Amino acid sequence: MPEHGQPPSRSPDRQSPAPFETESETESETESETESETESETESETEAEPGAETDPGGRMGSGRVVPLGKVEVMAFSGISTPAALLDERRLIRNLERMSARATAAGVDLRPHLKTAKSADVARLATRDHFGGVTVSTLAEAEYFFEAGFRDITYAVCLAPAKVGRARALTERGATLRVIVDSLAVAESLADESSGAPLPVLVEIDSGEHRTGVAPNAPELVPIARQLHEGPGTRLDGVLTHGGHSYFCDSPEAIAAVADEERAAVVAAAETLRAAGLPCPTVSAGSTPTAVHAQTFEGLTELRPGVYMFFDLAQLGRRCCEPADIALTVLATVISHRPENGRLIVDAGGLALSKDRGADGFVADAGYGWLVDCDTQERIGDLRIVSADQEHGYVEGTNIPWDRLPIGSQVRVVPNHACMTAAAHDRYQVVRDDRVVATWSRLNGW
Ligand SMILES: Cc1ncc(COP(=O)(O)O)c(C=O)c1O
Repeated sequence: MPEHGQPPSRSPDRQSPAPFETESETESETESETESETESETESETEAEPGAETDPGGRMGSGRVVPLGKVEVMAFSGISTPAALLDERRLIRNLERMSARATAAGVDLRPHLKTAKSADVARLATRDHFGGVTVSTLAEAEYFFEAGFRDITYAVCLAPAKVGRARALTERGATLRVIVDSLAVAESLADESSGAPLPVLVEIDSGEHRTGVAPNAPELVPIARQLHEGPGTRLDGVLTHGGHSYFCDSPEAIAAVADEERAAVVAAAETLRAAGLPCPTVSAGSTPTAVHAQTFEGLTELRPGVYMFFDLAQLGRRCCEPADIALTVLATVISHRPENGRLIVDAGGLALSKDRGADGFVADAGYGWLVDCDTQERIGDLRIVSADQEHGYVEGTNIPWDRLPIGSQVRVVPNHACMTAAAHDRYQVVRDDRVVATWSRLNGW
């Protein structure tokens, strides 16, 4: 684990966020809050929102019992497995908590839609905020523009071959912010004189060492100056992603990374301003740092994404509790192999992904935990230990064979929600034990 220094002391100013309360801390309180405030509202929104399909192909499941010979299996009847289920109540609670946290700290929330990639989720995530979103592909930018979002940050360094596509969206009326971390790309963007200037942020490396320039890098001001002075661009500010928060698993260590993330991007903004350059946007964010930061002072916006769904990787970083995880994969038991000490479900690598981001932080995460279809309580210590394309191998200390007959359904809590969700083209939105809507999602580039 990297050394992150001492956690910062809590600042008394208005930028000090309220704690991000997870399910174990707020169970009764939030449950009733969600019930009273969002139930009826969400009901109509979910079912009337444009783009929200309501019973495509008769897949809507509300029945509970699938007869299988003499066995009656509780199930989401009519849902073909594997399928991505989205727990509406948990989703909304997660969104409301992050939204309240940003609002209390006086910082804008520009949620990252790389996890959900769904216009229906985006509408809920931006409710009560200015409507800006973050995306990780140009396909998402185009999709969210079509869905009515106008202020979009594409937070992956722009490849030269994609400039035309980015500018085309700007010509259609989008404020599409792009990011760069090299003088060569900044120069070529800035030199283009046709069309409206493209808003550009300089990406800052705050410690993850993926992309971005160091806040004290000598090229920072020259890049920014090019963007400011060239006819093809408008310097919009600086952006960073504290992705090294994923190397930690204690709130204190993550709070220290959050402070490194914040300090780096704020220092870069100050450098630009001292050089006489504008820097309206100072953008930072990952889910762990947004959850555990003690102050957002100096930032103008936060860009967390996976907090909407959470997953075992977030559980391992102490960002959520099991009862906060909104995404599960519905799967069917297809084989009992007691001689091998395992049963097999029809959700394998293509339905769950083979991401093991929770490894090392959740001892038995595997490719996902098995939970009860109805209660979402974990079934013993059952987990997917291995995955072929369409087979998930389930092991555990005591497999309850009678409780899980062939044909019965289970839910799998994903290791990494972004990767798991990307295996599906829709979410079955579940309220209590019923599927109440189907929301489509985007994949591809
Ligand atoms: C540039 C950028 N911003 C924000 C995020 C959102 O962070 P998280 O996935 O931790 O919610 C990511 C995630 O990869 C990212 O790459």
